[in-house]
Amino acid sequence: MLKKILAGSVMSLFMMGCAAFFAFAAADMGPAEITLGEGGKKPAVFPHKMHQDAFQCADCHHGMAADGSQVPYAEGQEIKKCESCHNATVLAGKMKDKLALDTLKGAGHGNCLECHKEKAKEDPALKAKNIDKCAACHPKK
Ligand code: HEC
Ligand code: HEC
Ligand code: HEC
Ligand code: HEC
Repeated sequence: MLKKILAGSVMSLFMMGCAAFFAFAAADMGPAEITLGEGGKKPAVFPHKMHQDAFQCADCHHGMAADGSQVPYAEGQEIKKCESCHNATVLAGKMKDKLALDTLKGAGHGNCLECHKEKAKEDPALKAKNIDKCAACHPKK
């Protein structure tokens, strides 16, 4: 009897493990908390999970076509680190307004800072939280 119960619970633990594995494999959400530019001059803290709950993957993630143009995010698209494209080799000389898109700073400010400025302009409560200020992402050491 005891043997049967033990075998049963081992089996159900195994099945739970499988379910968790497949749920994870179906949608790789990435880490909940990220630090961009870690070890650099101005690391940026990024609560990824919090943004995933509030925004769409496509608000931040995209791909690149063979001709070097941007491809909008579509479900199932492979998600790579920003710096794998936003570097001096792949996007050499690319600019958006005054931002150098061939740097991680350009990609970060073009995405993160632009949205924070926009939302702070729209919503006084977010403005009051200073989300458009440097220290929101680059906490003082
Ligand atoms: C507000 C912007 C934003 C949103 C929204 C967002 N992400 Fe991300 N995500 C990022 C950034 C920035 C990184 C870190 C990339 C890096 O390290 O260069 C990241 C990293 C990841 C990674 C890890 C990539 C790697 O190789 O390290 C995965 C996977 C991922 N995101 C999936 C998702 C999915 C799925 C969604 C939608 C449910 C989503 N993200 C929504 C900005 C965002
Ligand atoms: C697979 C390559 C690739 C990856 C990975 C990538 N980008 Fe891009 N990104 C591009 C390309 C290509 C463009 C368009 C450049 C041009 O020709 O102007 C672009 C443009 C941009 C722009 C300017 C246009 C716009 O959409 O506002 C921003 C900002 C940006 N990327 C941020 C990011 C961030 C943040 C990440 C990581 C979460 C990221 N990118 C990951 C290839 C990539
Ligand atoms: C599409 C808009 C959008 C994008 C893109 C975005 N954010 Fe945000 N972020 C917000 C909003 C809105 C809040 C405030 C949420 C709240 O407090 O209700 C926020 C909050 C934060 C916070 C918490 C600030 C605090 O003081 O509590 C950090 C840190 C942050 N974002 C960093 C980043 C970084 C780094 C990126 C780019 C990798 C990024 N965000 C991209 C809209 C955005
Ligand atoms: C919404 C988030 C956000 C805000 C606000 C923000 N930054 Fe950034 N910043 C980033 C991200 C993401 C990067 C790229 C990753 C990194 O190098 O930290 C970056 C990079 C940088 C870098 C390059 C660091 C390096 O090692 O090359 C500097 C300098 C910088 N930011 C200065 C500022 C200043 C000054 C302000 C205020 C005017 C500011 N940032 C506001 C997100 C932000």
